[in-house]
Amino acid sequence: MIDAISFTNDTLRYLDQRFLPLREEYIATKNHREAIEAIKTLAVRGAPLIGVAAGYTVILGINEFRGTKDEFPAYFRQLIADVEASRPTAVNLFFATARMKEVYDAGYTSMTLESLFAVMHEAARKIHEDEIANCDAMSRHGVELIKSDLEATLKTRKLTVLTHCNTGTLATGGSGTALGVIKLAWQEGLIEKVITAESRPLLQGLRLTAWELEQEKIPYFSISDSSSAFLMQREMIDFGIVGADRIAANGDTANKIGTCAHAISAFHHNIPFYIAAPVSTIDITITDGSQIPIEERSEDELRTIFGTQVALPSTPVINYAFDVTPGKFLRGIITDKKAVVGNYSNGLKELFEE
Ligand code: MRU
Repeated sequence: MIDAISFTNDTLRYLDQRFLPLREEYIATKNHREAIEAIKTLAVRGAPLIGVAAGYTVILGINEFRGTKDEFPAYFRQLIADVEASRPTAVNLFFATARMKEVYDAGYTSMTLESLFAVMHEAARKIHEDEIANCDAMSRHGVELIKSDLEATLKTRKLTVLTHCNTGTLATGGSGTALGVIKLAWQEGLIEKVITAESRPLLQGLRLTAWELEQEKIPYFSISDSSSAFLMQREMIDFGIVGADRIAANGDTANKIGTCAHAISAFHHNIPFYIAAPVSTIDITITDGSQIPIEERSEDELRTIFGTQVALPSTPVINYAFDVTPGKFLRGIITDKKAVVGNYSNGLKELFEE
């Protein structure tokens, strides 16, 4: 069983994903600055897991506080700002900090700091528990949708699915978003093989998804990101499913760079392409994908491959970590509440009204 993140005895423990699959190294820390660094460097990554880690990082920060109650509000504001500055795209991070602020606002005046910290601790734990439950609900809705969309093919054979980046236990703490759906579909006998696109430049698909599939004994093979259109042309892919870092109110979806190219190719070849993400990944406050802040990472991340220089140090680089797939290329958005197909503007809004 993969233990992506845990919090016991006021200590955050996480599996450092930078070294996988070659080295399984767990890091334990009580220091909130180290936890922020783990999020920044992608030692801890994947939108839901970033949200979980953000909640626990706030707890580490408040545990380090040594001042008076009057001094706490300014300290807390700075702590939240530091956590929020770690990664800009995954909205789950801001969902987690908003939840911690809510608990703080509700309790600060009436509670002692000790009691306030205890309820905040519970709130962080609840974010973690909810993400685990969300994965199970999402997997069930996803499998139902796939069964109905691909009913005709399933009468004759099992399916081959394309996925991108890593959306499993490593990215969520639970079974996964897109990979959670794939795992359940495999258990139910719907899947023949999984194709993991490598996910340049940090290779989450080649390193992490492949590693998780090995653990689950699910058959898979990996491809370079640029191969997917050709495999679709050769009818080697029945459907695609990926996660999301932020979904706008109209269904436009930010996910690991490369996703949009897979989705457009799938649309061209009439292959269903799905997003699986918890409601906590939907940013209903923004109308479309152009408003999603897209993280730009260092130029060296592209000019080097895991420490080895492969390009001129002077080569100019643009290194977006995410792209935005317009909703029109998606067959459906599968959430923990239900799968939304067709009109995303209405369907996603309804998720917040139920
Ligand atoms: O940069 P990363 O590895 O944090 O990016 C992760 C992704 O893009 C995932 O597809 C997304 O967060 C969904 S994870 C369930």
